Amino acid sequence: MQQMGYGLRAWRLEDAPALREAIDNKNIQNNLRDGLPCPYTLRDAEEYIQTTLAAPEGSQYAFAITADDAAIGSIGVFRQGNIHRQSAEMGYYIAQPYWGKGIGTWAVTEACRRAFENTDLLRIFAEPFATNAASCRVLEKAGFALEGILRKNAVKNGVILDMKLYAKVRE
Ligand SMILES: CC(C)(COP(=O)(O)OP(=O)(O)OC[C@H]1O[C@@H](n2cnc3c(N)ncnc32)[C@H](O)[C@@H]1OP(=O)(O)O)[C@@H](O)C(=O)NCCC(=O)NCCS
Repeated sequence: MQQMGYGLRAWRLEDAPALREAIDNKNIQNNLRDGLPCPYTLRDAEEYIQTTLAAPEGSQYAFAITADDAAIGSIGVFRQGNIHRQSAEMGYYIAQPYWGKGIGTWAVTEACRRAFENTDLLRIFAEPFATNAASCRVLEKAGFALEGILRKNAVKNGVILDMKLYAKVRE
């Protein structure tokens, strides 16, 4: 991917307009948990980036996904607590014009590689809606194992949804 100009790097405050543009899209938000501001403003994007940059050391491992160094998406692993402290949930999205080019698969694979190499995490998991075929496919292509179906685990936009539990563990 790097030869095509795609990469993962730390967020910068000047990524806020690109972040806002990417995420202000129902086709993305419909596949995420509730709680994102709608409409998603430039200020919201700036606050997200500031919060991410100020996150306590080791609590998360988050990147901008870039094309020619411009932010086109977001990916991160978020450490859980208590006995799950060496387990992290992964979340990601890519601006719609960039879908279907293999970037999601590359970004998930690369973010896991970096997380396992640079942290003590043992397990990275993701819980896409069972209806999110693209995300499930990305996780499968990135070497995640399907561990189970979480039945009726969410209500999104008034619809009861199953979720799929995928995980990749440190080898
Ligand atoms: C999920 C997402 C990151 C995928 O990114 P991407 O760069 O398009 O992913 P890739 O190109 O690497 O792979 C997509 C795969 O899904 C497949 N796919 C896409 N839509 C599909 C559909 N409706 N049904 C079945 N497969 C589908 C593609 O064919 C491709 O698989 P293939 O390589 O075997 O053909 C992107 O769609 C996105 O941002 N979605 C909204 C946010 C989201 O869902 N985040 C994850 C929450 S768990």
